[in-house]
Amino acid sequence: MRTIVVKDYVALSKCAAVIVAGQIMYKPDSVLGLPTGSTPEGTYKNLVDFYKEGLLDFSRVVTFNLDEYYGLGPQDKLSYHWYMHHHLFAHVNIDPKNVHIPNGLAEDVEAECRAYEEKIDRAGGIDLQLLGIGRNGHIGFNEPGTGFDTLTRMVRLTADTIAANARFFASPDQVPVQAISMGIKSIMKARRIVLLASGSGKAQAVRDMVLGAVTPEMPASVLQLHPDVTVIVDREAARLLD
Ligand code: PGA
Repeated sequence: MRTIVVKDYVALSKCAAVIVAGQIMYKPDSVLGLPTGSTPEGTYKNLVDFYKEGLLDFSRVVTFNLDEYYGLGPQDKLSYHWYMHHHLFAHVNIDPKNVHIPNGLAEDVEAECRAYEEKIDRAGGIDLQLLGIGRNGHIGFNEPGTGFDTLTRMVRLTADTIAANARFFASPDQVPVQAISMGIKSIMKARRIVLLASGSGKAQAVRDMVLGAVTPEMPASVLQLHPDVTVIVDREAARLLD
């Protein structure tokens, strides 16, 4: 696991975008695994800027998002479909048929999850998986206690995650309690992983991920077992690493 510590959120966003841009330049038909949340917003903004400056071509890029709330449709402004459209896809020349996000309205969830894994495999697997991390150490919606052998499936959000995500909703009781999420094993299959963490609220999770025991109680600690992980943190999130 290599750790890059940068000054602040602005630098973190640029650093991550440069790495993703390099991936796309070296392999124009890259398969990217993408996260949502506050942390990657700056990265997406930089990628959009690179595209507008003529540096990047998304026409052959294929994407798979980590997760989607169960019960929210793509038009719902709180869905991750809407988030991705708003922050990235609407502003670059990605081919909509190359974009994949779990269907939060799927009636047959098991079939949806199985098909999602098959699509990742058929695309050749994920070249670069971008991740955030929850304060409780989750990656995707893989909450503490998640087995390391999990694939895409329906999950139940913990109270901690619901509280953390309530800021986007009118009230905490409107946060969906279930989601469809790629599993730990789906994430670990990626050839390269880049995890972003910003701010002092993530410092303990970052410390436990990098220096703590590898345990399902700290889902991100599994990344210690992956051969190519880069953790990009700002100074506040790196506070407990020394
Ligand atoms: P955040 O979420 O980027 O909004 O902090 C990260 C996560 O929960 O994975």
